[in-house]
Amino acid sequence: MAEIRPPRPRAKIFTNENQNLGFHQCRYGYKNVADLEGVVAGYAKAKIPLESIWSDIDYMDGGQDFTLDPTNFPANLLRPFVDRLHNNSQKYVVIIDPAIKKEAAPPQNESVGLFLQRNGTNYVGRVWPGEVYYPDFMSAHAAEYWARKISEFRRTIPADGLWCDMNEPSNFKDWEPLNEYDYSSYRINNTGIHRNLNNKTVPVSTVHFNGVSEYDAHNLYGLLESRATHDALLKDTARRPFVLSRATFVSSGRYTAHWTGDNDGRWEQLAQSINTILNFGLFGIPMMGADICGFTGNTTQDLCSRWIQLGAFYPFARAHAEKTTARRELYVWESTAQSARKALGMRYRLLPYIYTLMYEAHTTGSPIARPLFFSYPQDANTYGVDRQFLLGRGVLVSPVLEPGATTVDAYFPAGRWFSLHDRSPAITLQTGKRVTLPAPADSANVHLAGGNILPLQQPGLTTSTARQSEFHLLVALAENGTASGKLFLDDGESPEMGGVGGNWTLVRFSCNTEDSKGIITTKVSSHVVQNSYAPSRTLVIGKVAFMGLPSAPKGFTVYVNGVELKAARTKSRTNGVFSVSGLSLLIGQQFEVKVVTSH
Ligand code: GLC
Repeated sequence: MAEIRPPRPRAKIFTNENQNLGFHQCRYGYKNVADLEGVVAGYAKAKIPLESIWSDIDYMDGGQDFTLDPTNFPANLLRPFVDRLHNNSQKYVVIIDPAIKKEAAPPQNESVGLFLQRNGTNYVGRVWPGEVYYPDFMSAHAAEYWARKISEFRRTIPADGLWCDMNEPSNFKDWEPLNEYDYSSYRINNTGIHRNLNNKTVPVSTVHFNGVSEYDAHNLYGLLESRATHDALLKDTARRPFVLSRATFVSSGRYTAHWTGDNDGRWEQLAQSINTILNFGLFGIPMMGADICGFTGNTTQDLCSRWIQLGAFYPFARAHAEKTTARRELYVWESTAQSARKALGMRYRLLPYIYTLMYEAHTTGSPIARPLFFSYPQDANTYGVDRQFLLGRGVLVSPVLEPGATTVDAYFPAGRWFSLHDRSPAITLQTGKRVTLPAPADSANVHLAGGNILPLQQPGLTTSTARQSEFHLLVALAENGTASGKLFLDDGESPEMGGVGGNWTLVRFSCNTEDSKGIITTKVSSHVVQNSYAPSRTLVIGKVAFMGLPSAPKGFTVYVNGVELKAARTKSRTNGVFSVSGLSLLIGQQFEVKVVTSH
């Protein structure tokens, strides 16, 4: 009997504008517009990529959502600043907290169904702006109110993304018990102190739309706010929304990115960021990051350098800091700047690969950053590895996580591994093994597993510059001479990523090797699955580089689409990498590049 297969679900994971894969800088405590301007200039001067600058609650008037501090962030200064960012293909993201200052809310008689209720009236809590009401995102009325406020605010300041913070929801007010829910004997032990259910949040005796109790629905608050914010941005911009949320629940990955919350500038937290990011990827939230350089405490130059070396490979790469800490933007220390240029330079080269991983996350649910066991489930030694991770199937990141280290012990599953920094001789292992690697001061070890083909572009100070550059294919051959990979392309901002009838292009690459009487032929070919993203008809691959080709004392002959390539300058072998450059292979058209050992 034929096997009955259920239809393959589309994961519909949150997708991002391509630009949000660039580097983000944030700080609680940027003083005014000139301060923001200075940071943007600092990045440009140091030639470190900067995609987005963020404002924390400092931009607000007294911590109130949808307002501007009239002295330090007035619209007549902030708006032209945001326009200048946009002219330079950079972005501006602002924080919003869910709670609305009591005095700024619509009057009680007009706010029925808008805010959480307790005892028949709006519940009053306390957050940054003082006494507040909490929008009840379970009601369509509140979602409409939220969308209207966001849209009105964006008419003044066209922020590119919204950062939903404090949405557990947070509450600074001590709890006064009302009913049996408040006296619940359940305790929360996530910080080891057996908190009461109402500790630092709205009381569980508050009530949502249709009588749903907060006791039953508490964990949905962040999810529902993220959804309302996502939908509001989508409606207002008609572009793929960018939302970052602190609170999440099952399915949040459909609406928002997430970060690991307020971490400390300590070495242990650098290491812990890896397992938290990997966990959330498995929970269906692929766009994950941790505050690079640590949020609280004065980080050190060494820690901050190591942090960007790792953080440049977080799916969501944002540096953030608490307001009492010393300034630590990536250009402040020269050694950190050097690490940032190197690590972000590699990230930006990898953007076509990472964006293709986002498409994969969207359609299959696979995380962008993955534990080693995701690619190597047959190797039980990978199960406990939490100090390294993979980007996609085959890019292995092995960072330094301790002060003063000059080497790093990294686990490599069986196979061939090529360093992405110097592309030097491969590590080849019949069985998985720990290998001690040199740990240069300015970079993490990054290796590519044989068997993978990476689509790359050239680095740039913004993703939009990088997107205009020539593509390269990097082919890392497995020991049997095969490799494969893919490339997804679209405009990077249309709401639907890879939808039916959409304007997108998907190309698969494969490589195999044949040995015929000692003449070895390695052939890379492309298979165009869909080609409706118009620019892909003009975008070109200018270079194909091979790692792991057999040695060829008499050199190689190269054929492109069956025609021998004569120009000697287009072929070179350095450091074990054989490159064919000067090509102009159209991404939207099938092609074949054949490398044959001469005899
Ligand atoms: C919370 C956030 C933090 C932010 C601060 C001020 O602690 O987690 O990222 O900087 O509030 O808004």
